[in-house]
Amino acid sequence: MSEPTAPREPTAPGGPAAPRATYTHGHHESVLRSHAWRTVENSAAYLVPHLRPGLSLLDVGCGPGTITVDLAERLAPGRVVGVDAAAGIVAQAAGLAAERRVENIEFVTADLYELPFDDDTVDVVHAHQVLQHVADPVGALREMRRVARPGGVVAVREVDYHGTIWAPESPGLDRWMDVYQQVHRGNGGEPDAGRRLKGWALEAGLEAVVSTASSWCFASDEERTWWGDSWAARATESAFHGDAIAKGVATDAELHAIADAWRAWRDAPDGWLLMPHGEIVARA
Ligand SMILES: C[S@@+](CC[C@H](N)C(=O)[O-])C[C@H]1O[C@@H](n2cnc3c(N)ncnc32)[C@H](O)[C@@H]1O
Repeated sequence: MSEPTAPREPTAPGGPAAPRATYTHGHHESVLRSHAWRTVENSAAYLVPHLRPGLSLLDVGCGPGTITVDLAERLAPGRVVGVDAAAGIVAQAAGLAAERRVENIEFVTADLYELPFDDDTVDVVHAHQVLQHVADPVGALREMRRVARPGGVVAVREVDYHGTIWAPESPGLDRWMDVYQQVHRGNGGEPDAGRRLKGWALEAGLEAVVSTASSWCFASDEERTWWGDSWAARATESAFHGDAIAKGVATDAELHAIADAWRAWRDAPDGWLLMPHGEIVARA
């Protein structure tokens, strides 16, 4: 992999006038609580057969870096770079790598439409839960393909929000889904990215696209407490709350009712929730 060049000012796909998306979740503590739980085992198992020590890897939209650091441990001494547009989260990810004493890793603040790497240089280019948040996912995949070496791997996993199912039935969670879809789309993203990923990869010109799926399932008391509390806080405290109100999608009272619905689901002994994810592994 080439050395990262100095980060450039982010520009929109197609030039500064083209539409950009807003990152729906923001980086509130309630959001990071859920992102920091992520590991290679629970979020990138589909990629494991393609990993071996010595390969270089770029993690696009790395967030707090828990998956990135896991990947670096598997690929050592291969070089791993995490890229994210949010400087604060990049610093947090670098802190995690230092804490875990992982040395074959670095983190760079950059925009995914202009990755600061030369063409054809990276063995594996990976993104997890990122393309759903960008206005031009096909452009993002083309940029990922640009930096991947010929024959290298481009691997992406994205949730499909509409595919989420739960028990027991809950009008409050039905309303959460409705509000979530509107806020995410209103920010220029695609909440049902999982089902579209294969099409986006083909449109981006990737080859040998293998498309699979996997899910997250939250059912035990511990899992429901963690997930339910996280979403209750997101509904009333994170960027999602202000966004939903500013867009006229929900009132403060409705968002508090959604938080109550999450707490009721958390406390229901039969509470269960499954989120499906689409995955692609393709060749550059
Ligand atoms: C849902 S988080 C996923 C983080 C991480 N991949 C994970 O799964 O834990 C999406 C991340 O993409 C980043 N992001 C969104 N738009 C971006 C862009 N245009 N360029 C780089 N990063 C971006 C956000 O800052 C955020 O950290």
